[in-house]
Amino acid sequence: MTSRIEWVAQSCRLLTTISDEFAETQPFAGLTIGTGIHLEPKTAALVMTLARGGARIVATGNLNTTQQETVDYLRDRGIDVIGGPTSDPVEHDGHLREVLAAEPDLLLDNGGDLFARYLEKPWAGLMGGTEETTSGRARLAPLRDQLNLPILVINDSPIKQFAENRHAVGQSVFESYLRITNRSTGGKRVVVFGYGSCGQGVAANFRNAYGLVTVVDVDPLKRLEANLDGFDVSDRDAALRRADIVITVTGARDILLPGDLPLLKDDVVLMNAGHFPQEIDAAGLLGHTDVESVTDATEGLQTLRTRDGRRIHLATGGHMANLAGPRPLGNSIESMDLGFALQVRCLEAIARGTVAANSVVVPVPRTIDEAVANSYLELVAG
Ligand SMILES: NC(=O)c1ccc[n+]([C@@H]2O[C@H](COP(=O)([O-])OP(=O)(O)OC[C@H]3O[C@@H](n4cnc5c(N)ncnc54)[C@H](O)[C@@H]3O)[C@@H](O)[C@H]2O)c1
Repeated sequence: MTSRIEWVAQSCRLLTTISDEFAETQPFAGLTIGTGIHLEPKTAALVMTLARGGARIVATGNLNTTQQETVDYLRDRGIDVIGGPTSDPVEHDGHLREVLAAEPDLLLDNGGDLFARYLEKPWAGLMGGTEETTSGRARLAPLRDQLNLPILVINDSPIKQFAENRHAVGQSVFESYLRITNRSTGGKRVVVFGYGSCGQGVAANFRNAYGLVTVVDVDPLKRLEANLDGFDVSDRDAALRRADIVITVTGARDILLPGDLPLLKDDVVLMNAGHFPQEIDAAGLLGHTDVESVTDATEGLQTLRTRDGRRIHLATGGHMANLAGPRPLGNSIESMDLGFALQVRCLEAIARGTVAANSVVVPVPRTIDEAVANSYLELVAG
């Protein structure tokens, strides 16, 4: 049987092509790359591509997300993995510092954890690196003068915005609704809070599955866009009163609050796809005085029964539904393959010294975006 790690590796068609190229060209020969990313099957494909390009890799995972099977797989293939799964921030901090103690030539960072600590104890010879996330960009941007190294932010690429946030998040949130509830969507009234890249994909996927989708957004331009895209755009309270399914994906806190409980219909499903588990105030809803009983959180669902007899179902305790609950798979392999192709091409450019020294915490260069887009299109053209 194909393991999930092997299935993912063979489905990452861009990384497979680049990996074969790197085996010949060896862009990282003699270099050490330090990283602190989620260690799971998709990132294993990324790490192995860099290793085939000649890099020595020193890696640790992220808080709460490291998968032991992936750690074992990487260690068996010569990757220096520090630590294992942990939810202890102090232990995790120690692992990150061990990565930095190897004084890598390049850093592949996630959330700014490595570059921020590098500044506490810099070493000579760091060439620069990449940052995967928006939150990492926000953390590192004020440190530009001190960092003074080429650092390319992957999430700011338009490819990430449309391939992952719009297409992949939309699809995986829809998949997660089916996976967790096993309920239909046809004819159901679905309310999507937030019409950014992610919300657009979520709204489209539920409409494509015959849901009656209403969009709620605080930004009038987004409301206009949703209207022109053919969605119902409604006042939030009116939308909540009708909703069979509510999905929050705004990046803001306190979208659904205990005060909304009286508005909700019997049998409604509440689900969050935004980064913060605080988009839905789960603790506030569970502890509301109108809530008579709450079921155990089995299989990713909890049912709150109100004193007037309504059942309100909360998915995955308000955590990102596509990354929580039973057998979460996250975003599609293809969308991650695109993002990781950007990663390896950016690291290659820095290793080869083709990125300007003043590219400190900036988006992926347009030439790399175009090269990755062309490679993907060539692959799909067959
Ligand atoms: N689940 C995943 O796999 C996944 C993947 C990528 C991003 N995300 C997260 O999804 C969230 C949204 O990301 P995005 O790229 O779409 O962001 P975005 O900034 O493009 O869009 C967010 C939208 O929410 C709206 N909004 C803000 N406050 C609101 C409120 N109180 N009520 C209604 N609308 C409100 C904004 O006006 C904006 O249009 C973020 O938290 C992001 O980190 C999740």
